[in-house]
Amino acid sequence: MSARKKIAVIPGDGVGKEVIPQAVKVIQGSGAPVDLTHFDWGADRYLSDGTTVPPDGFAMLARDFDAIFIGAFGDPRIPSNIHAKEILLGMRFKMDLYANVRPVRLLDSSLCPLKGIEPKDVDFVVIRENTEGVYVDRGGISKQGTEDEVAIQEDINTRKGVERIIRYAFEYCQKNKKADGSPRTRVLMCDKSNAMTYAGGLWQRVFKQLSAEYPQIKSEHVYVDALCAAMVRDPRPFDVIVTNNMFGDIISDLAAGLQGGLGMAPSGNIQPGKTSVFEPVHGSAPPIAGKNIANPMGAILTAAMMLRHLGCTKESQNIEAAVLEAVRQKKTTQDIGGSLGTSAVGDRIAGAVAEQHHPPLKPLHSEAALVKSKLDYFNSLSYDELKVSLDPGQMHSLKVRPDGTILDGHHRIAVLRSRGVDVDHLPREIIIKV
Ligand code: NAD
Ligand code: IPM
Ligand code: MN
Repeated sequence: MSARKKIAVIPGDGVGKEVIPQAVKVIQGSGAPVDLTHFDWGADRYLSDGTTVPPDGFAMLARDFDAIFIGAFGDPRIPSNIHAKEILLGMRFKMDLYANVRPVRLLDSSLCPLKGIEPKDVDFVVIRENTEGVYVDRGGISKQGTEDEVAIQEDINTRKGVERIIRYAFEYCQKNKKADGSPRTRVLMCDKSNAMTYAGGLWQRVFKQLSAEYPQIKSEHVYVDALCAAMVRDPRPFDVIVTNNMFGDIISDLAAGLQGGLGMAPSGNIQPGKTSVFEPVHGSAPPIAGKNIANPMGAILTAAMMLRHLGCTKESQNIEAAVLEAVRQKKTTQDIGGSLGTSAVGDRIAGAVAEQHHPPLKPLHSEAALVKSKLDYFNSLSYDELKVSLDPGQMHSLKVRPDGTILDGHHRIAVLRSRGVDVDHLPREIIIKV
């Protein structure tokens, strides 16, 4: 990777404001060549100035950024959920991000509520149609408040919409391997065509037509109700599941239960070739918000998914490895059996990721030769020594940018932050011992 990627970060509401900063620390620690810009869209902004999405907001995101990283939207102070609808569903619909990709992967047997299930047994993906269905929110109410009230909620399914999501699922199956390196081989379409015959009929016909184009992939159909029962009894046969917007919403929460709960599940809202949006599957979880107990791993795994999408494969792998290690060592939040707080989990993973990535610092100015020997020493220091070397005694100095980064040493800064150094208030000069 050479060109730096631009990422817009929108933490949103509730636990989104706690988990996204952890994932941001981890991204910075990974050394991925990305620049992050933060936006305050969410409930607080809406309640203060009535703005959900600023004018031209979606066009700006699509034009100025390579990816968008969001937390969650939903706040009890806004019962209509209007801001979430305009921001979250607005991105999916107006940016036409038709594929909601929700990988379901068990990192460690301890996280699965089913007995005898190992990581290799749970490695599938839910591909959810993301721009149509009942989410179009078309319908109406008549005779509201009377005994004759009628509410209509329409389910919109276009041939183009159904075809592109099913094709996406077959292509995904063809191009993506499982975590253990084995190929993906099956696409399962689930619907409710026995009751919803018009929409279901279209999905059935398109699925059959596309199945014929991918003869090497095994195609299967299961009704969504039966799928739910099968998934919690034995998740092993699942590989790629494609379905409509609402069924995808529901089965992806169910599937998250197999991997440790909603706090562990990542997702991406994708249109190939366009600026895509990445978000943990969970919502703003108001009852646990602000308590430093929300699990940041879903957001951190979402960051890894986003970095992989942007071509930062190594950084993505390092992040996933660090999450796995934290799970194995039970350095987790309480929802999955640990006793750490949200930020402690984030610090630990950010630190582990940063340790895997030590780009050597480069001399800053023309007195390169003089500085070089000091930099060699700086680079050889362990982080605890480095903390000590911040003491301004009689030491030589190294210029720090106003934003606290040392040339391209900001990865090292992330390590310092994760070790408790107040890097935001570092002196303008970092002192190194010689
Ligand atoms: P939720 O996902 O917020 O919470 C469901 C359950 O999972 C709760 O028990 C919660 O405590 C737990 N949970 C969620 N995230 C967790 C985490 N990171 N760590 C540990 N536990 C976690 O779903 P909900 O309660 O149905 O919805 C709350 C609000 O969030 C609503 O306003 C809803 O509309 C919104 N929501 C937003 C999104 C999104 O922005 N993508 C997704 C789902 C729900
Ligand atoms: C999700 C959420 C959203 C959805 C809500 C907040 C509208 O549940 O991202 O899964 O239903 O898509
Ligand atoms: Mn959902």
